[in-house]
Amino acid sequence: MAKSNSIFFCNSCGNEFAKWAGQCPACHEWNTLVETAPYLKTTKTKTGQKVTLKPAESFSVKAALSSQTGYTFSTGISEFDRVLGPGLTKGGVYLLAGQPGIGKSTLLTQLALNSKINIVYVCSEENPAQVASRIKRLSSKENSHIRLLNTSTVENILETIKSDPNCLVIIDSIQSVSTAVNPTTPGSPSQIRDSASYLIQSAKENSVPMIIVGHVTKDGDIAGPKMLEHMVDTVLELSGDRQHLLRLLRSVKNRFGPTDETGIFRMNSNGLEEVKDPGSILLEGRVKNAPGSCLTMIMEGTRPLTVEIQALVVASPLPIPRRIAKGISGNRLQLICAILTKHLNLPIATKDVFVNVTGGMDVKDPGADLGIALAIVSSVKDKPLPENSICFGELGLLGEIRKVGFTDKMLKEAKALGYSEIFSPLSHTSIRSIKLG
Ligand code: TYD
Ligand code: MG
Repeated sequence: MAKSNSIFFCNSCGNEFAKWAGQCPACHEWNTLVETAPYLKTTKTKTGQKVTLKPAESFSVKAALSSQTGYTFSTGISEFDRVLGPGLTKGGVYLLAGQPGIGKSTLLTQLALNSKINIVYVCSEENPAQVASRIKRLSSKENSHIRLLNTSTVENILETIKSDPNCLVIIDSIQSVSTAVNPTTPGSPSQIRDSASYLIQSAKENSVPMIIVGHVTKDGDIAGPKMLEHMVDTVLELSGDRQHLLRLLRSVKNRFGPTDETGIFRMNSNGLEEVKDPGSILLEGRVKNAPGSCLTMIMEGTRPLTVEIQALVVASPLPIPRRIAKGISGNRLQLICAILTKHLNLPIATKDVFVNVTGGMDVKDPGADLGIALAIVSSVKDKPLPENSICFGELGLLGEIRKVGFTDKMLKEAKALGYSEIFSPLSHTSIRSIKLG
């Protein structure tokens, strides 16, 4: 029997196996093994030259540090810089991931337009004419520092970087480039792994900053092998609801700075506009004094943000009533409903409960628990919450209101915004102690 020369590669942990299996023997994930061409160990480079074997270059810590002066520079977009920490770093590789149509290419085009250094924009997903028309649409600014590369071949990109290392390279996107070393189609896990590894190696060797666009899957994970996230220095995520205007840029991993900052943008006809006052967008069109509406303060990175949580509780026609959440996790809604049933005797066992965070926000901050609970209570009692009130705090299973990070900062912000009644762990210790009339 002819010997098969393909191997099986786990999309989740990156291990390779000679045989296919339903479950990865290494990380035990199901259905993650895909067939791929083997990664051949050779002493030849991609261009066929023999590698000369010699000891690797080494540095003292002092020498390595001194070579870093002038290593970071601004993106020219302050919300982007806020997320990155020190700005872009030479030799740094950034992965920008997001849903299709969320604005990745738009953000990077704006970054290119604002850049003080030369840009090499690899148009592998769109053609140069499409990218050029977006550049023209977004700004009439001078743009001769931007070069649009019409290729999807990694080797050609590597040659371009070598010939002009004083530039910022944008690869839009990793799913549409391929290396000749790997015969699989662009976008396959092993192709992404190999292409990314050559690109990252080139960025490091030439001290070139590189931003790579990555697609996300239906489940919200970055498409391709999990290894990709390990290989790059920083993973950025552009999120938001496509039906709404707000876009949030967060760093999931950052080797150069913090991961707790969020950049806030608004998509409009001139691209992504930086938002300094997101509260005004989130509360646009709010109906005041409505039962089921609760203003809540949450932390987005290190910035306090006011959002409106709406709840609707109605009699259910179903034997098992529904708990439907938008903008918060379904499990969290179940938990809060259970706490309210136990500690407030709230009659919701036969009711459908719908909760929505307005403005298309996705709230993960546990400090929104109290807001969700009060919105539900307000809807059940058909009574609006006190006018000009706001709340924040995490709910414990015992009905206690717990402190969350930055409690003092949120209190200060709520006072500064002029709220007269603030429900928080500092004013109430338990959900039972809040009397809503
Ligand atoms: P795009 O950056 O192409 O998304 P991605 O690269 O993440 O797939 O953005 C596409 C959407 O953005 C598209 O639906 C139109 C919208 N858009 C605007 O609203 N204003 C603009 O100025 C631009 C350039 C795009
Ligand atoms: Mg795009």
